[in-house]
Amino acid sequence: MGRVLSFFRPFKEGLHTMSYQIDLSGRVAFITGASSGLGEQFARTLAAAGAGVVLAARRIERLKTLRAEIESKGGDAHVVTLDVTDTDSIRAAVAHAETEMGAIDILVNNSGVALTKKLTDVRAEEFDHVMAVNSRGAFFVAQEVAKRMIARSKGEAPGTYTGGRIVNVASMAGLRVLGSIGVYAMSKAAVIHMTRAMALEWGRYGINVNALCPGYIDTEINHHQWQTENGKRLVQSMPRQRVGKPQDLDAALMMLCANESHFINGAVLAADDGFGI
Ligand SMILES: NC(=O)c1ccc[n+]([C@@H]2O[C@H](COP(=O)([O-])OP(=O)(O)OC[C@H]3O[C@@H](n4cnc5c(N)ncnc54)[C@H](OP(=O)(O)O)[C@@H]3O)[C@@H](O)[C@H]2O)c1
Repeated sequence: MGRVLSFFRPFKEGLHTMSYQIDLSGRVAFITGASSGLGEQFARTLAAAGAGVVLAARRIERLKTLRAEIESKGGDAHVVTLDVTDTDSIRAAVAHAETEMGAIDILVNNSGVALTKKLTDVRAEEFDHVMAVNSRGAFFVAQEVAKRMIARSKGEAPGTYTGGRIVNVASMAGLRVLGSIGVYAMSKAAVIHMTRAMALEWGRYGINVNALCPGYIDTEINHHQWQTENGKRLVQSMPRQRVGKPQDLDAALMMLCANESHFINGAVLAADDGFGI
């Protein structure tokens, strides 16, 4: 299969012809929550662009199925078990990934859970779990990967480190509060501010940390809701009255992971079909 994913077809503008390709050959990407939905698609997309991908989550059988699919297309994939609520599991998964695939260049920090409840009904254990996965989990995964990236960058001659890329998958709910998902929105707002703090602290080591804020994409996290009356009303309230597919985030993901995106750091990129406007 082609090792270079072309996102921008050549176009003509007067006498100039321009094309743009993003090649991730030789890069290693670690994707959390690769067992379904967005993570699964992020892994396919990065592998198609030439990256070796490490598929991390708790449901190992699903990761193995995805690995087989990627390998059947000529890609390179490895599976690791990961529970982001457990810092020992995070340390072991990252160490295992680097032993098997080499240094991680790209982290897609994507594991997440939803909670649909009015604020007055949220129980303490539900609050803790959403924060443990979405905020605390994302923090310690990024910290573990970044420590290793920083150590490598210090071993390089000044200015020669190619750089790490960390994409924290937040949500448009981290930017705009919506009814009945207040605690989820709080957990994702934390991811956005976390992204800025990491970009500030780690930028000097050649690591770029950016947040991707998807709008509604049809995955296991929300599939049940689109046929309900509330779900249909929600779709009607969207600027283009449609729910996205995981592939709709490919271009945004690739831009944030590209070697060429070295000047993009601390950005909060909405890919929400205008929902946040
Ligand atoms: N779909 C949307 O509309 C949308 C919009 C904005 C943001 N997002 C965000 O996008 C990310 C992916 O969501 P999705 O839509 O793809 O939902 P999904 O299909 O439910 O996927 C969630 C992923 O998170 C993983 N996960 C959950 N708890 C985990 C834990 N304790 N340790 C490790 N991994 C864990 C799951 O893997 P295992 O269960 O196998 O561990 C699964 O692969 C989430 O952060 C979500 O908040 C989604």
